[in-house]
Amino acid sequence: MSSYKTMPTPGNTEWFVKDRFGMFIHFGLYSMPARHEWVQNYEPIPEEHYHKYFELFNPDLLDAREWARAAKNAGMKYAILTTKHHEGFCLFDSKYTEYKVTNTPYGKDIVKEYVEAFRAEGLKVGLYYSLLDWNHPSYPLDVAHCYAHYENAEEMDKGRDMKVYAQYIRNQVEELLTNYGKIDIIWFDYSFKYDTCPQKLKPWMQFEGGKGKEQWESEKLIELCRRCQPGIMINNRTGILQDVYTPEQKRATEWVKNENGDLLVWEVCHTFSGSWGYHRDEMTWKSDKMLIDLLTSTVAYGGNVIMNVGPCSRGYIDHRAMNALNAYGEWMKYNSRSIYGCTMAEPEFKAPEGTVLTQSNDEKRLYVHLQNYPFGRLFVDNIADKIHYAQFLSDGSEIKYEQIKDSNTIMFNLPTIPPKGISPVVEIFLK
Ligand code: GLC
Repeated sequence: MSSYKTMPTPGNTEWFVKDRFGMFIHFGLYSMPARHEWVQNYEPIPEEHYHKYFELFNPDLLDAREWARAAKNAGMKYAILTTKHHEGFCLFDSKYTEYKVTNTPYGKDIVKEYVEAFRAEGLKVGLYYSLLDWNHPSYPLDVAHCYAHYENAEEMDKGRDMKVYAQYIRNQVEELLTNYGKIDIIWFDYSFKYDTCPQKLKPWMQFEGGKGKEQWESEKLIELCRRCQPGIMINNRTGILQDVYTPEQKRATEWVKNENGDLLVWEVCHTFSGSWGYHRDEMTWKSDKMLIDLLTSTVAYGGNVIMNVGPCSRGYIDHRAMNALNAYGEWMKYNSRSIYGCTMAEPEFKAPEGTVLTQSNDEKRLYVHLQNYPFGRLFVDNIADKIHYAQFLSDGSEIKYEQIKDSNTIMFNLPTIPPKGISPVVEIFLK
């Protein structure tokens, strides 16, 4: 067994650290302006105009089974859907708000469609829930609020009561965790202080312009989640770390640890382009190679990846995101053995330059991910006494090797031209 031990957690992470790869789905009213999920805040868009999206929201081409198949084909094993993002609009039929999908022309509960479709494809199901809420009348204005910079902001803030809103969170989370069967992950977003946006801090703001575990009443919230779904995984963004730590848009260079240096279960989330919500004009789409290398580099440090799609307002995943998913699918078809059930390589193995290493949990296979394909020869130290056989993972073709004299180093003889596919993987069978 792998020698890396993570901090024990209250929820069930066993499946999670094997599955390694999931889909994040950002979907909400913001798919209509198609200019980023924070558009209501960034521009900002006045309430009357934003209301038009609510009146007209109708993703008529939404087929959650297609989303689920796309995830599965990409090699993803679980998914997380935004049941409510910061805008406050709910994709589920909540009895605590009118600002919900069942009051739009679409009329159907998207959370329900999603959980059923993903389960049917054998994927684990996660729900994202925004702690921020720019629509709720009791939610106090803070530096991240879309109305923070309005002239009458102070006036708008009068009478807002965080306690009322914290109860609303619990009411809705209870609905989400009791009305939809087994939920594997609940993913809360997020705690912040005024210094995330100092220019928006106003002297009248409650809680010094930010919000965290005291305001969300995170202890009670977590207790509720555990009561409704005992094995569920909960992330860290309530301000209290539970099962999984969730950095974002980072390329790993080490295993994520807590302040005492203990290893954590962790999952990085990434976008295909520079927006989580559907963005028509955003052009910084990552190359297929970047996408593959992000995944392998993460597993090489014991982490998971969720890659985000933002379906367009008609409900389907557009061709750019589909292309990116297909790139994963094509690579995973041949190389997933170096991802599922794998983790950081044992400390005695050091990744040669331009490569990252993963290793199967049973320690029997070591994978060298050739992110930067070397010319002809590849040297791996500390392995001569353990190697049994080597091949390219993609086509199972033998790679010949020899031991460097008086050393424990192996030199692999690689073909001049790399085999087909991004960042080829050398699979080493260990004794
Ligand atoms: C960022 C985005 C937010 C998104 C989140 C996902 O914080 O601002 O909109 O939901 O990442 O982790």
